[in-house]
Amino acid sequence: MKSNTKRKRLLVDSVADRVEQLLVQMTMSEKIGQLSQLQGGSGVDQDILKEAIAAGQVSSLLNEVDLDTVNELQRVAVEKSRLGIPLLIARDVIHGFETVFPIPLGQAASFNPEVVKSGARVAALEAASKGINWTFAPMIDVSRDPRWGRIAESLGEDPYLTSVLGNAMIDGFQGDDLADAGSIAACAKHFAGYGASEAGIDYNTTNIPENELRNVHLRPFKAASEAGVATFMSSFGDLNGVPATASKFLHTQVLRDEWHYDGFVVSDWESISQLSIHGLTANDKESAYEAAAAGIDMEMTSTTYRDHLPDLIEDGLINESEIDGKVRAVLALKIKLGLFENPYTDSKDYEQISNPEYMQEAKSAALESLVLLKNENQSLPLSVSDKKSLAIIGPMADAPYEQLGTWIFDGEQKISQTPLQAIEHLITDDVDIHYLKAMDTTRSRDDGSISQAVELGKKSDVIILFLGEESILSGEAHSRADIDLPGNQVELIKAMSKLGKPVIAVILAGRPLTLSNIVDDVDALLYAWHPGTMGGPAIAEVLFGLESPSGKTPVTFPKVVGQIPIYYGKKNTGKPATDESCVHIDEIDAKAEQTSFGMTAFHLDAGYKPLFEFGYGLSYSEFNYSDLHVNTNSLTIGNSLRASVKLSNIGSCRATEIVQLYVRDLVGNVTRPVKELKGFKRITLDAGESTVVSFDIHTDDLAFYNREMKLVTEAGDFHLWIGGSSATELRTEFSVTKP
Ligand code: BGC
Repeated sequence: MKSNTKRKRLLVDSVADRVEQLLVQMTMSEKIGQLSQLQGGSGVDQDILKEAIAAGQVSSLLNEVDLDTVNELQRVAVEKSRLGIPLLIARDVIHGFETVFPIPLGQAASFNPEVVKSGARVAALEAASKGINWTFAPMIDVSRDPRWGRIAESLGEDPYLTSVLGNAMIDGFQGDDLADAGSIAACAKHFAGYGASEAGIDYNTTNIPENELRNVHLRPFKAASEAGVATFMSSFGDLNGVPATASKFLHTQVLRDEWHYDGFVVSDWESISQLSIHGLTANDKESAYEAAAAGIDMEMTSTTYRDHLPDLIEDGLINESEIDGKVRAVLALKIKLGLFENPYTDSKDYEQISNPEYMQEAKSAALESLVLLKNENQSLPLSVSDKKSLAIIGPMADAPYEQLGTWIFDGEQKISQTPLQAIEHLITDDVDIHYLKAMDTTRSRDDGSISQAVELGKKSDVIILFLGEESILSGEAHSRADIDLPGNQVELIKAMSKLGKPVIAVILAGRPLTLSNIVDDVDALLYAWHPGTMGGPAIAEVLFGLESPSGKTPVTFPKVVGQIPIYYGKKNTGKPATDESCVHIDEIDAKAEQTSFGMTAFHLDAGYKPLFEFGYGLSYSEFNYSDLHVNTNSLTIGNSLRASVKLSNIGSCRATEIVQLYVRDLVGNVTRPVKELKGFKRITLDAGESTVVSFDIHTDDLAFYNREMKLVTEAGDFHLWIGGSSATELRTEFSVTKP
C-alpha cells in the first residue's frame, strides 16, 4: 500500500516536472495555442489547419475521426511544431462508438454501474482505435424535465444515482491508467445547472438557488471531481444571471477552491463567444476576459482566446501566471495520456470494432435497461406455443437507425438488430408474423394505415406494437412541449385495443413520454428507451420470456405534461397532499367554495402522483420485502448503521430485483426532500428463494448543505425505507446524535 502511494507521488511529481520543463520553453503564443480547440473533419481546410498546428496554435481537435488524418495531424504537431506537443483528439462518444449501447437514460434504468462501466469501456476501445483520446461524456446534469431533449443523454433525475453511474462511466472511459491503450479522457458536463433549463427548452435560462444547486445539481460533479475525471465542460446556460461559462463562482470558488480539482475545464461549443449574445459582454474581447477570469481553460471552436488573450495580458487584465495555470492543466493531461510517448494510433493494436463480444455487452446493457411498466393478466411473457400468429406493427419495429437514439455520429446502423429481425429469428416457423410499419415516422398522420393495421390485427392472436419517438425527437436542441406519443400513434393503439386481442406496446423513446392516454388501452407496456445496436434481441428475449425484465425507471413518468417538474425527491411543503385530500375536477360540486376541499399541494386534474414513480419497474416474478430493521436506532455522527431487509422471490421464475434504500431527514436547518435514494443493489433470486439484503449508511451519507452553505450532518430523527421503488412504504426509523 505504502509503496503504491509512493509510486503515485513519484508519478505526479514527474508529470509536474515535465509540465514545468515544457512551460519554461513556451512563448505566450504557444501557451495560448494550448488553450485552443478547433474543429477537424471534412469541411475544414487541411492546409490552414496544418499550418496552425505547426505554429503551435492548436491544442485539440474535435470531430476528426479519420484515422489516417488523425495520425497525419498528430505527426504535424509532434514533428513540425517547435515543442512537439501532441494533440487531444476529442469526440462526443456518448453511449457507444460504432457499437451503440442504450442511451444513457436507458443505461441508468439498469441501476447497474457495471453495465455503465462496460458500455464506456467498449466505447473507449472502439474510439481509441480511431485515434480519439478524449470524449465529452458523461453528461451528469440532473434532469427532471422530460420535455428537455437532452434528458436522453442524462442519467436521470436523482443526484445519487447520477453520481454513482457517472463515476462508473468515467471509470470505463479512463480505465486504470490514462496511458493504457484504450483509455480515453472523460469530461464531466455541463457545469452546471444545464438540466434545469426553463420549460425544458434547450439552452434556456436556469435559476437555481445556491442551496438547491449544491444539494442537487452539483453533487454528481463533486463526485466526478473526486473520482478523478480528467476534464469538465462548462454549460451553455445562464445560471442565476451569469452564464455558466463566465461563472467565477462555479469554476473558481467551487471547482478549484472548494473541490481542489486539478484537471482542466473546456468551454462548450462557442459558449465563450456566446457570452455577448447572452448580453453579459459587449464583444469577444470582454467574453475572453470573463471566461478566462472565471476559470475556463480551453476554448471550444470559437477563437476569442487566440484573438484577445494577448491584449488582455498586455492590458494587465489577465496575468501570465493565470495563463500558465491553464496551460499546466492541459499539458498534464497530455502527459498522463502517454501522448508524448505514443502520439500515433495503429488500429491493429485494438480488437475489431463491433466484434461479437462488444455486441454481446451491448445486448446485456439493453436487456438490463428494459422496464416493464404494465403487465395485466400476465400478458407477458408471450408463449409461442399457443400463439400461431403475431401482428407486429409500428414505425419502431424495424427501424435500425431510429433505435440507436441521440449522439450516434459513429453508430453503424447496418449492424443494428431490430425487434422484427430478432423476433423472426427467435420464433419457430409455424408461427405467422404479420408485419406492418403502419406509419412512415412516429410523427406521421396518415389514417389509412390504421385500417390496414386493424385488418392485420384481426388475423392475429396477439398484437405487438412498436411505437415511440425516432432518434431526432430527443437530444441536443430537440425539446418537445407535448410529450405524448407523436403522430397517429395514440389513435393506432386505440384502434387495436378494440379488437379484443392482447395488445403489447413496446415504446422506444429518448425520454419518459406521457402515457396516461394509452396505458389503459394496452395489456402490457415495455419501455425500451432507445436501446442501441442490440435492442432487437434484448426486446425479443424479454417478450418471449427468455429473460425477465429488471430495469427500473431512473426518472419519474408524469401523467400529463402540466405536472412537470415532478420528481420523487420533492419537498414536503406546508400542505402535503394525500389520497384523501385530492379532489378531481369532475367531482367538484357546482358552486363549491374555495375552502370546501383540498387545501393541499396537488392539481385538480392530475392529483399529486405521477403515472410511474422513480425506481418503478415490474418483473415476470414477484418480490416480497419483509423484516426491515436497522442494527442500531441511535447513530452517533461519524459512524455507520446497517439496514437490512429480507427479500423473497415469491413468483415463479428466476428474476432480478433492484432493491432501493431511501431516507428522510425529518427536520433540517433547510427543509429536506421527502425521500432521498442512498443505496441500491441488483439482486437475482431463483423462484422461491430468499436472501437478506444489507446496506451500510454512514452519517456522511446524510450530509447536506445548510443555510450557510456548509456541508453538515445534523442530529435528529430519520425515516428509512427499503423497497422496490420510491413509493415503498416499508419503513423504519433511527436517530442521529452528536458525539
Ligand atoms: C454540446 C456538448 C458537446 C459539444 C461538442 C455542444 O453543442 O452541448 O455537449 O460535447 O457540442 O460536440
